[in-house]
Amino acid sequence: MTVYGVGLGPGQADLITVRGKRVLETVDTVYSPGRLSRSVVREYVPESKLGDLDFPMTRDPDKLRAAWREAGRAVADGAAEDDVAFVTLGDPNVYSTFGHLRRTLDTFHPAVDVEVVPGVSAVTAFATALGVEIEAGTGLSLREAADGAAPTGPERMILFKVTDAVATDEKLTAAGYDVRYGRRLFMEQGETVVTSDPTEVAERDYYTLAYAEKHGLDRDLATADFDAETERSA
Ligand SMILES: C[S@@+](CC[C@H](N)C(=O)[O-])C[C@H]1O[C@@H](n2cnc3c(N)ncnc32)[C@H](O)[C@@H]1O
Repeated sequence: MTVYGVGLGPGQADLITVRGKRVLETVDTVYSPGRLSRSVVREYVPESKLGDLDFPMTRDPDKLRAAWREAGRAVADGAAEDDVAFVTLGDPNVYSTFGHLRRTLDTFHPAVDVEVVPGVSAVTAFATALGVEIEAGTGLSLREAADGAAPTGPERMILFKVTDAVATDEKLTAAGYDVRYGRRLFMEQGETVVTSDPTEVAERDYYTLAYAEKHGLDRDLATADFDAETERSA
């Protein structure tokens, strides 16, 4: 039997993939690591199909390993009988708890088949929500910026886990970046905020990201010449 890692997308229930929905509807048990992912899953499966796993709020590596061994055992036991799914918001392979589960299964339950159903990640959904275009030929880096951190270097960055937007903004602005923030993008749970003003997202909320771009970047695009063309013909 198979353990499916299913990406739910950013939060709105209709942003799950057709394949993800089909898997949720056909497996015997669906495990979810949090309240938010659970509320998306509940759009597709009855409460009785939800599996129970305990995820401790700790960074202690020993406690984490113990919790994942326990979770891995429960999921592997479930998969001995039938197909099961473990869901994550966004994509299962992007900054996700699913990685812990897969490593645990690979090590302690190598006979279990694991299959991933990708999901719409915040990595791509942010662009639409924030009105950003990552043009062909340009780079985009992923970073984390928890607790006021402000990584610098790349010309364009997505920053995850922005929990102190005001402190992060101060440092990024000083380093020459223009920054936009997105909170609870494409989510039904909670208020969506898109802003360049960090004070609007000052209150700590885990589901906040930022897009930072070096001020005054050159955009070398064929279609940028439309401006010059229309000016000439005016
Ligand atoms: C542990 S990562 C999970 C990423 C997820 N697996 C994905 O592919 O989108 C969580 C971080 O992603 C960002 N994030 C995820 N979904 C988001 C959303 N709908 N709106 C804003 N930020 C989001 C936040 O910065 C949050 O702290």
